[in-house]
Amino acid sequence: MTQQFGDYQHEIYFNALGGVVPELPMGFAELEQRASEALAPSVWSYVAGGAGDEFTQRANVTAFEQWGLVPRMFVGASKRDLTVDLFGLKLDSPLFMCPVGVIGLCGQDGHGDLATARAAARTGVPMVASTLSADPMEDVAKEFGDTPGFFQLYTPTDRDLAESLVSRAEAAGFKGIVVTMDTWVTGWRPRDLSTGNFPQLRGHCLSNYTSDPVFRSRLPQGRADDTQAVVMQFASVFGNPLTWDDLPWLRSLTNLPLIVKGLCHPEDVRRAKDGGVDGIYCSNHGGRQANGGLAAIDALPDVVEA
Ligand SMILES: Cc1cc2nc3c(=O)[nH]c(=O)nc-3n(C[C@H](O)[C@H](O)[C@H](O)COP(=O)(O)O)c2cc1C
Repeated sequence: MTQQFGDYQHEIYFNALGGVVPELPMGFAELEQRASEALAPSVWSYVAGGAGDEFTQRANVTAFEQWGLVPRMFVGASKRDLTVDLFGLKLDSPLFMCPVGVIGLCGQDGHGDLATARAAARTGVPMVASTLSADPMEDVAKEFGDTPGFFQLYTPTDRDLAESLVSRAEAAGFKGIVVTMDTWVTGWRPRDLSTGNFPQLRGHCLSNYTSDPVFRSRLPQGRADDTQAVVMQFASVFGNPLTWDDLPWLRSLTNLPLIVKGLCHPEDVRRAKDGGVDGIYCSNHGGRQANGGLAAIDALPDVVEA
């Protein structure tokens, strides 16, 4: 039996008969408002901010509003079936939780990655776990239950480290590797720049690095508790500006489905496909990277065509 997502509301209405109303906001606007009050200003700035004047961030939202679903009638939809087949997996819905580095810091207990993984277990909606994580990927993967999980790789310049991260993801049971192509340097983000705020440089969300044998071997005396050394080593390997010449190497890292994130041009899509990539994640990083570009959803039809 597939998840019947609409049934969650029954729980809410029935609980209310006993006088219990939801603690959580029911709409996005209130969720956003309450997050802005609850989160530390540095975390809020990192989460809410986009690149430049945030034109592309807004364009993503406005363009999305121009698209809609046209429902079909007379189909007796008492049992809704949103299942999709993807990479040999049967998923309860076509949705994914996108990778969010620093989601760890968004949880009150500092373990937002684990909370997100538990939400994936409960809903059947897969989590794409970010490289930038407050808890090591192995601990995140343990919370997935029966829901498949994906690992997002920020390819480091240190190839041994890249290989180690991918093989750890395989061993931990992740079902695919999502390689983010648009972030070998961080976008120009005025909200964060104005306070000099960059969580990773303060030692946050680096547990996939500090738990990694290759990364540790690069530290003086292998000391992962030396935050300054960890941060310096992280900063020296983060962000590999990959070229097409690197694709055979990237492909060779895993037999798992390889998905490349950040492609919006049909030529890039064709070339990636020719290079053995299994999936295209059409995205502009929510307008957090390059500002001034088109909305990702407006690039999608040509990407799908390619
Ligand atoms: C706070 C925050 C952190 C993010 N961290 C990552 C990350 O670690 N890795 C990554 O590939 N994308 C990251 N993203 C981008 C998202 O995965 C996603 O691309 C973006 O929210 C836009 O959604 P879309 O790609 O589905 O259009 C982050 C986005 C936000 C808002």
